[in-house]
Amino acid sequence: MNQNKKSFYITTPIYYPNASLHMGHAYTNVLADILARYHRLKNEDTFFLSGTDDHSIQVAKAAEKAGMSPRDFVQEKGAEFRNLYSKLGVVVDDFIQTSDEQMHWPGAILLWQKIAENNDFEKKKYVGLYCIGCEMFKKEEELVDGKCPLHDLVPQKLEEENYFFKLSKYSKIVKEKIESNELHIVPDTRKKEILSFIEQGLEDVSFSRPKKSITWGIPVPGDPDQVMYVWCDALANYISALGYGQKDDTKFKEFWPADVHIMAKDILRFHAAIWPAMLISAGLPLPKNIVVHGMIISGGRKMSKTIGNVINPLEVVEEYGTEALRYFLAREISTFEDGDFTMERFKDAYNSGLANGLGNLSSRILTLSEKYLEKCPEIPEVSDFTEYFKFFEKFEINKAVDYVWAEIGELDKSIQETEPFKVIKVDPEKGRALISEMVLKLYRIARMLNPIMPETNTKLKQLIKDNKKPESPLFLRKD
Ligand code: ME8
Ligand code: MG
Repeated sequence: MNQNKKSFYITTPIYYPNASLHMGHAYTNVLADILARYHRLKNEDTFFLSGTDDHSIQVAKAAEKAGMSPRDFVQEKGAEFRNLYSKLGVVVDDFIQTSDEQMHWPGAILLWQKIAENNDFEKKKYVGLYCIGCEMFKKEEELVDGKCPLHDLVPQKLEEENYFFKLSKYSKIVKEKIESNELHIVPDTRKKEILSFIEQGLEDVSFSRPKKSITWGIPVPGDPDQVMYVWCDALANYISALGYGQKDDTKFKEFWPADVHIMAKDILRFHAAIWPAMLISAGLPLPKNIVVHGMIISGGRKMSKTIGNVINPLEVVEEYGTEALRYFLAREISTFEDGDFTMERFKDAYNSGLANGLGNLSSRILTLSEKYLEKCPEIPEVSDFTEYFKFFEKFEINKAVDYVWAEIGELDKSIQETEPFKVIKVDPEKGRALISEMVLKLYRIARMLNPIMPETNTKLKQLIKDNKKPESPLFLRKD
């Protein structure tokens, strides 16, 4: 830990490892990775956390179906997630799995104890309808034809004695924290939405299940007959991963509160209502920003196996490369709106933005410089990125990428207009000056690609410094 450095802590949701990998898992982590890289670029001490949410009922069921123990099952699935992220150039500092008794349980247990010490649990009998897809109790009026409309599942009727977390008591204070932006919800439309939800009053929430109905989970401290509710367990990952509840909690001291929890709207309520209340109850500071990105849909519809419109991110990387998928997700999906991912849209964006855009521009400039310049012109130590960086500060990733591509467009236009390849024939000095200027502008663009397309950033900077045109196109056109 460096005392003088600013720290930056960003988290993604921890995913249910029973699902097969899809574009949503790729999207959130690519956005988070871009933000993490941006903060590393600013020389901040950055910690980027992702992971899996192992203790869900569906996970236990999937393991059983696969003929595996839940523990072996989540290990195997965890490895698949790690592989996906490495294929996407997503570099996490830690990948937590909540079944990890050493890394996660102590933090979840201490948090429970702190909430208990604050007298915020009440054990009581409860009858309710539980959707294992949502991992929450549903009200009658939320069901359609007796089913949870989100998961098309008939909820189970549960009659149990559980510990309830006194969430209702925190409605007012959580609302105030959100209103004042002490807990900043981005974008504003999501902030308004959650505020109007909280204004209706938060209800106490069941935070445990009897061990006789569920064994795969963390035992409730002091009551071995009860197992923690999966969301109570899961939310604790954001602090357990930093060593909260462990002997060595230096990371917790340095990085908590989180700067950013990023996610989609499906789980905003858990993060903007339950999580802050848990933290306040335990006497812990609140995260600074909750950033809510849009949902990826495909062909105008929710991605689903039944519709057959699920796109596997690994297949896209296989065909087009890591950088192309990062580019598409960052730019062509508008950060705060739902975005359509189809292979047609992807190919068009790839050809226009990368093959014909950045790739072609780089080749043209580097061909000229290799031919007419003796060496690469002197590169300034720093460039002014004030305007560019503002987009990252506001989490407007797609606008940040648009900004880079606007400079690419301008540089392209200036080649057409000034025609350095003609000027060089009549006035070599002026021609060389024009080419040098373009090389420097291209270098500036290469620098800006750092958080978005890290491989291209390195490769392009090297080509410019070596004063060499690429041996093959940076992005091969696809027909
Ligand atoms: O809810 N478009 O896990 P989960 C964009 N375990 N993002 C998507 C997406 C889509 N179509 N589908 C999923 C859980 N996501 C809990 C979280 S956190 C303490 C516990 C992403 O596997 C998006 O980030 O259902 C969304 O919020 C998350 O996956 C839900 O993941
Ligand atoms: Mg989900």
